[in-house]
Amino acid sequence: MRILITGNMGYVGPVLTRFLRQNRPGAEIIGYDAGFFGHSLVGSDMLPEANVDRQYFGDTRDLPEAILEGVDAVVHLAAVSNDPMGNRFEKVTEEINQAASIRLAELAAKAGVKNFVFASSCSMYGYAESGARKETDPTNPLTAYARSKIGTEQQLKQMDLSGMAVTCLRFATACGMSDRLRLDLVLNDFVACALTTGEITVLSDGTPWRPLIDVEDMARAIFWAISRDHENGGAFLSVNAGKNECNYQVKELAESVARLVPGTRVSINTDAPPDRRSYQVDFSLFQELAPDFVPQVTLDESIARLREGLERAGFRDGDFRNSRLMRLKALESHIASGRLAEDLRWANRKAA
Ligand SMILES: NC(=O)c1ccc[n+]([C@@H]2O[C@H](COP(=O)([O-])OP(=O)(O)OC[C@H]3O[C@@H](n4cnc5c(N)ncnc54)[C@H](O)[C@@H]3O)[C@@H](O)[C@H]2O)c1
Repeated sequence: MRILITGNMGYVGPVLTRFLRQNRPGAEIIGYDAGFFGHSLVGSDMLPEANVDRQYFGDTRDLPEAILEGVDAVVHLAAVSNDPMGNRFEKVTEEINQAASIRLAELAAKAGVKNFVFASSCSMYGYAESGARKETDPTNPLTAYARSKIGTEQQLKQMDLSGMAVTCLRFATACGMSDRLRLDLVLNDFVACALTTGEITVLSDGTPWRPLIDVEDMARAIFWAISRDHENGGAFLSVNAGKNECNYQVKELAESVARLVPGTRVSINTDAPPDRRSYQVDFSLFQELAPDFVPQVTLDESIARLREGLERAGFRDGDFRNSRLMRLKALESHIASGRLAEDLRWANRKAA
């Protein structure tokens, strides 16, 4: 089986590649990435891309058709991947997350790819008060990032897919350890705060709901989706990827980290205005379609792995919110130095 992973050099990619190597040893894995965060390794013993058979550096907006030759499954991770980046690069977010994704899906269908997996997001539920959101419930995207995910799903649904199965995995908020760690994710931020400053400051009243999924369980869901049969869910499928028990209130996350990193103080801002993002998600459809691939990593395990990984790396940067482990800071630093242009194209690459 030949698998193309776009955006393989981010946070999810290294964990996914290792998972595929272990669970599908014969697969040929091809990576395609612009390399924005290639340098953001934390405590790695080796370059994660040594695990892929072929690595391309390029922009998905220009991905050459020839790369899709003989590919059985595409895992499309490449994206401007959170709200702060989407707000700062609104137009580019639409170009990369939506227009380039649709172009890639068209090329993939034309090339005879059997399975196309789109990394979508539960953030499209935005603010939802009345119970856990199902796939059939209305969405409420609050940001350019969330709009790009729902927009792509809607266009994919209307496309002529020439027999290609499309799976949009609406992931819960990711957490957990990766060779390319991100600290702009709620649980990861709390663990880094606890280890470096001994204090977690919750920037809301702590009541907002956030479903979580460990990055290893994201890999497990993708592993299922790359071989999903049409009969199991239909030719086009949008499914919430996570677990019903893993809907947490933010204060619960802070308290769990404090329990596992003894000595940590938690301060909740009781006067804070309500968070605009708060939603619970119903993951029953995923449980029904992929019972052997539902999340297995517990919250305590995710925290322990983060702690272990950060300690092993000797991580001590109490000012990490200004470091390249925040995706937006990494892009801004590239732009400030002239390496990257405002349209998120490398300044030194000739146009395709
Ligand atoms: N991390 C989460 O909480 C989460 C949750 C739900 C969904 N997702 C989705 O999962 C996917 C992977 O997330 P991640 O956390 O690994 O993101 P990430 O930002 O860490 O990695 C994304 C990768 O895509 C690459 N990339 C971005 N634009 C590109 C372009 N135009 N051409 C080629 N490469 C490009 C970047 O260089 C980076 O290596 C994203 O689509 C994201 O939206 C993530």
